[in-house]
Amino acid sequence: MSYEIVPITDEHIEGFCKAVSAVAQERLYLLSLEGFTLESSRLFVHGNREKGMPHFVAIDNGNVVGWCDIRSQNFPILEHSGELGIGVIKSHRGKGIGEKLILTTLTAAKEKGLTRVELTVRETNTNAIALYKKVGFEIEGILRNAICIDGVYTNHIAMAILFE
Ligand SMILES: CC(C)(COP(=O)(O)OP(=O)(O)OC[C@H]1O[C@@H](n2cnc3c(N)ncnc32)[C@H](O)[C@@H]1OP(=O)(O)O)[C@@H](O)C(=O)NCCC(=O)NCCS
Repeated sequence: MSYEIVPITDEHIEGFCKAVSAVAQERLYLLSLEGFTLESSRLFVHGNREKGMPHFVAIDNGNVVGWCDIRSQNFPILEHSGELGIGVIKSHRGKGIGEKLILTTLTAAKEKGLTRVELTVRETNTNAIALYKKVGFEIEGILRNAICIDGVYTNHIAMAILFE
């Protein structure tokens, strides 16, 4: 499979929106279980870009098949840090795309001068936890029963990576 990892541009926003919705609707991984509207996706992409925050997409045959972004946290005392989000559509997992996306995004975060990248991940999402550990994230804590879907609770794992 030949794919490329590129910074997101306006031409990718619709594909990004569709990829996020597809992964959200699996209900197993993201905070949203539905995805977001095209307009809110546009606002998110433009807002991140205005702040110079990293946001990359994986493109296969012209289609967005994955994304990785780091969003800023909007308080001056948190400006050194950002929150990472990532996803690869189901058909394209297990082919190295997620690892390439996250490494590209973390490199851009370092170049921007961020010194901390954090995230939360469902305790059941062992594939993502393995990826995060592989690229250097460490577990910082457990947010007990942080998720509740149809009455079933799941813990959230807080992870972060620090740069010098
Ligand atoms: C997590 C995710 C982004 C990984 O992307 P991917 O392209 O499938 O992963 P890669 O093929 O690049 O694999 C990189 C590493 O991830 C981990 N990993 C990925 N798939 C795995 C699997 N099925 N079992 C165990 N580890 C796995 C491994 O550490 C792997 O390294 P290895 O091949 O040396 O073992 C992808 O599974 C995904 O999009 N999941 C749904 C959305 C999601 O969970 N987002 C994060 C929410 S916090």
